[in-house]
Amino acid sequence: QRPQDLAGKHVVVSAGGTREPLDPVRYLGNRSSGRQGYALARTAQARGAHVTLVAANVSLPAPDGVEVVPVETTEQLRDAVRAAAKDADVVVMAAAVADFRPATSATSKIKKSGGDPLVLRLVQNPDILAELAAERLRPGQLVVGFAAETGDDGASVLEHGRAKALRKRADLLVVNAVGAGRGFGTADNDVTILDRDAQVVATASGSKDAVADRVWDVVLAHV
Ligand code: C5P
Repeated sequence: QRPQDLAGKHVVVSAGGTREPLDPVRYLGNRSSGRQGYALARTAQARGAHVTLVAANVSLPAPDGVEVVPVETTEQLRDAVRAAAKDADVVVMAAAVADFRPATSATSKIKKSGGDPLVLRLVQNPDILAELAAERLRPGQLVVGFAAETGDDGASVLEHGRAKALRKRADLLVVNAVGAGRGFGTADNDVTILDRDAQVVATASGSKDAVADRVWDVVLAHV
C-alpha cells in the first residue's frame, strides 16, 4: 500500500495521441503510445486519487480503479477533458494533440487522382492546455502540460521548453527530449519540470512510472 497522499483529489489525465479523420478510413495521427499518461493515471490511483483518464487511441489495458474515457479526435478529447475538468483539482495534459486537422473530412473514401498530387488543407486545432490554463474551469485548479521537444534551430530542448512554458502558462510543464530512442514509444523517460515562469523546479529520469511519481510529488507541492 502506497502513502495515500493524493486521497480526496480528483485528477484528470489525458493520454495517447489524437487522430484527425481524412475520410471514413484514413486519419492524420502521431506516434504517442499513451504509456506516460497511463503511468500518471496508475500512480495517481495508487496514491489515492480519483482518476479520470481521457485516452486517445491507446491500446494499453485500462489501469485498475481508473475511469477511462476513450476518444479519437482532438475535438472529442477537448470535450471530454473539459467536462471532467469542471470537477478536478489537477488536470494533466499528457496526450499528444494534433496541432492541425483537415479542413474537411470526406464522407467517402478519397480516390486515387491519376498521378496528380493530392493537396490537403489543414486548419489549426485549439490549444486545449492553453485554454485550460487561461480559464481554470474550477477555481484553484492546477494545470500541467507536457512538452516533447527535439533540440533544433540552434536552441536546446530546455530552451524550447522554457519558451513553451511562457507561452502556454500552465502551472507546470514537463519537458522531455524525444527522438533517437527517447520519449515516444520507449519505456524510459528523462524530464525537466518547469513552473509557469519557466524556472526549473525538478528533474526526473527512469521508468515512466518513476517520472509519473515525481510529477505527482511536484504537483502536491503546488496544490
Ligand atoms: O505545443 P505542444 O504540442 O508541444 O504542447 C504540448 C502540450 O500542449 C501537451 O501538454 C499537449 O497535451 C498540449 N496541447 C494541447 N492542445 C493542442 C496541442 C498541444 O492541449 N492543440
